[in-house]
Amino acid sequence: MALMTWTAEQYGTNVSFADEEHQKLFGLLNTLYDQATNGADRSQVGASLDALIAFVVDHFAHEEKEMQAKGFAGYEAHKAEHDALVATCADLQTKFHAGEADVTEEVGQMVKTWLDKHIPTFDKAYGPALG
Ligand code: FEO
Repeated sequence: MALMTWTAEQYGTNVSFADEEHQKLFGLLNTLYDQATNGADRSQVGASLDALIAFVVDHFAHEEKEMQAKGFAGYEAHKAEHDALVATCADLQTKFHAGEADVTEEVGQMVKTWLDKHIPTFDKAYGPALG
């Protein structure tokens, strides 16, 4: 079963690029989660982990650029949230490729919990400014 399902009610921001990128992000996360919790090859999990993190980094940069372009007042707090998740992801990525960590059920739930708070709280807040 998919870890995350995008719905406009729960995750819609009223900003088309963000909604499209969030749906793609959920798809990459679901693929990684399915592989990691169904015993896929470690190399396959690693490739999916790298793809997800690269997409997340690009997505955050896109949002930050748009927020700055519009002079959005919540930019600094929003960017701090992004930076914290990127640091957590980079640490996991390094440890995974060193054979010191795995993508587990707990990792999937941690990312889901983060997104379930971040998108409704932080991303929806830029809707009126960026939409
Ligand atoms: Fe869509 Fe602020 O992440």
